[in-house]
This record gives sequence, structure tokens and C-alpha cells, in this order.
Amino acid sequence: MQTRAAVVESQGQPFTMAEVVLEAPRDDEVLVRMVATGLCHTDITMGSFLPPEMFPNVFGHEGAGVVEEVGAGVRGLEAGDHVVMSFRSCRDCAKCRAGLVGYCDQTLLLNYMGMRMDGSQPISRDGAPLFGSFFGQSSLAAHALAYADNCVKVDPELDLTLAAPYGCGFQTGAGTVLNVIKPAKDDSLVVYGAGAVGLAAIAAAAAEGVESIIAVDPLQSRRDVAARFGATTVDPTAVEDVVARVKELTGGGAAYAIDTTAIPAVVKQAQQALAPRGTVVALGLGAEEYAIDAIDLLQGGKTVTSSIEGDSDPQEMVPRLLGMRAAGTFPMDDLVTTYPADQVNQAVADVTSGAVVKPVLVW
Ligand SMILES: NC(=O)c1ccc[n+]([C@@H]2O[C@H](COP(=O)([O-])OP(=O)(O)OC[C@H]3O[C@@H](n4cnc5c(N)ncnc54)[C@H](O)[C@@H]3O)[C@@H](O)[C@H]2O)c1
Ligand SMILES: [Zn+2]
Ligand SMILES: [Zn+2]
Repeated sequence: MQTRAAVVESQGQPFTMAEVVLEAPRDDEVLVRMVATGLCHTDITMGSFLPPEMFPNVFGHEGAGVVEEVGAGVRGLEAGDHVVMSFRSCRDCAKCRAGLVGYCDQTLLLNYMGMRMDGSQPISRDGAPLFGSFFGQSSLAAHALAYADNCVKVDPELDLTLAAPYGCGFQTGAGTVLNVIKPAKDDSLVVYGAGAVGLAAIAAAAAEGVESIIAVDPLQSRRDVAARFGATTVDPTAVEDVVARVKELTGGGAAYAIDTTAIPAVVKQAQQALAPRGTVVALGLGAEEYAIDAIDLLQGGKTVTSSIEGDSDPQEMVPRLLGMRAAGTFPMDDLVTTYPADQVNQAVADVTSGAVVKPVLVW
């Protein structure tokens, strides 16, 4: 079928909206008509991170829409279902069976290679295939092919423009608190980078009753939201020593930290500002290497770790967070700003400047 997609034509280029052709769904695929697609920082990073030979490429991994057609082998979904799309997993390997679907044996092939498992590419233009199948969706497009494993069925009454970011950004931040850290109420948590991922972590920690939450971000607009969620804020450009300030605010060091900046020096600060036996979870994508203070790591018996999607299974975490939203304990709606899909580059500019937190494109 003919549809529209935001294409990154070559490495480092902005998005261009283009007419493309999408294949009909295969036996294991579903065709989804997009209503809304959240823009995650990963969609922006990929445009400069992937090698030149992996372009033109269609990204997008926070799609939300309506199922139009299902392949003959698809179970559990039918035309008309409303779905939030997330990352793919095989649901059959040892990690998947243990519930750790983000670490599936097939993760790379299922999510990042720009093609289906068999090497075919479902999106084309003028007969030439484009890279796609990103997170089993490539949902920066008016239509996408997805799978039963990465489509989470949601209530048709739900506003899909508000639900789209649950497929990645919100799930990652909240999952890191709910699945990875599991803080006690009297544990302190410092979040470096109060974008969509960091703010979701802060909201989830607040929902869990964590009393000491600190948000570090140079952008006033982001610190303002963090403060509204109950965090004490630090402007890293206004204090002389971020580590000293965080230690002061946490009475000697934080039990936990989450980094969403992917800046090596910030990950190191986060580690240094931990209390002995503290843990920092680095979530950011984009750095080739992180800096670690080896002496501090050893003396403090600290842990530097990471997580894919907050160790979430989207089939469990997306409904759980939507339930918290409905109960009023995960108040993320105000962070969403909608854009007509063809204003994707404006959305990128606004999230980069900090003018908005979570841009969502409407198709
Ligand atoms: N691990 C995963 O599974 C996963 C999932 C989603 C996103 N990500 C990654 O998480 C990161 C965050 O995504 P996002 O959508 O929230 O991005 P974002 O750009 O909205 O947020 C990053 C924030 O970091 C802040 N920042 C910049 N310099 C800083 C500094 N020196 N100290 C403190 N804060 C600073 C920015 O002002 C911004 O608010 C990205 O790298 C993204 O690729 C990872
Ligand atoms: Zn698996
Ligand atoms: Zn993402």
C-alpha cells in the first residue's frame, strides 16, 4: 500500500516526509494505522549513530494506532484493536521465558538491523527498499507492520496521543525504578537528565513514596517539571561541584542514581555522588565509553549498571503504567505536546531546546 513516512535520507540529515510503499502483512504481521507516534531521543540519536550504509532509514518506536489487518498466523489481535507498540522479543529464549524480554537472544535481529529476520525490507520507494522494521515497527509513518509480541492492546477509549510514549520513554524511566532499583521509601534517588525518561523515573519514584528525589538538569523548564513531581532540583551549570551538592542534599551520598544524559562525565559524577554500596543505572544511548572512578568504585563497593527499557515486559508494564495514570499516580499527560506529523523536525528542535518534554506526532 501507499503511505507516508518520515525518512532519514542519509547519516546526520533531518527527517523528510516521503511517499513510500509498505508491503501487505505476512502471516506473523499486523498492519497498524498510526494515530500517534512519540519521538524518543533514540530516534534522533540513530540518525547519526548508525553507519552510512544503513540509510535511507525509517525510525519510530513509540507508535500507537489501530490494527487494520492481521496475518493468518497472528493470535490475540484483530482488526479494530487499539495498540501501543513497543520493542520486539522472541518470547521463547531463556531470557524471554524468565520475563527479561529486553535481553532476548534475538534482540539485535528483531529490533535494530533495519530489516525483517529473513533480510527482507517491507518499506520501499520507487522500487528501492528502505531500511525499516525499527523495533519491529518503524512507526514514524502513517502505517506500520508490527507483531503480536510488540503490540500491547489498550482500551479503545484511551487517547492514543497520550499513550504512545508508554511504548518506550515512559516505560524505560518508570521500569528502571519499579523493576531495577525498587527503592525503599527512605532510599535517596538522583536522576541526571530530566527529559521524558528521567521524568518518568521521578514520577514512578514519587508514586512509590520515595521521599528524597533529586533531579539534575541544566534546563530550567525540565527542572520545573521535576520540582512539580516532588524532586529537589540542581542546575549543574550553576553549582561549582555537582558531586558535593548531591552529597550534601542526600546526607553523604545517594543510594541510587539514574543517568539519562549519556554524557560520560555525568555518569562518573553520578557514581561519585553515591553513598557506599550505591548503584547507578546508566540508560543513555550515544556514548561509546563511560568514565568510571575506579578507586571510588572499589572503596565504596558501588555498582554501575544499565538497563534496556527498565527491564520491562511491555505486555505487563504498559498496562501497569496506564493503570497508575488512571489512578492519578503517574501524571505524565501534561508532558506530551502534539505536532502534525509533517512538523517532525520542529518537534526535534523543540525537544532539543527543552521547550517540550515529549513530542508526539499525530498522523
Ligand atoms: N536504555 C533504554 O532502553 C532507553 C530507552 C529510551 C531512551 N533511552 C535513552 O535515554 C536517554 C534519554 O532520553 P530522553 O528521551 O529522556 O532524552 P532527553 O533529551 O529528553 O533528556 C535528556 C536530558 O538530559 C539533560 N542534560 C544534558 N546535559 C546534562 C548534564 N550535564 N547534567 C544533567 N542533565 C543533563 C538534558 O537537558 C535533557 O533534559 C537518551 O540517550 C535515549 O537514547 C534509553
Ligand atoms: Zn527471546
Ligand atoms: Zn526509545
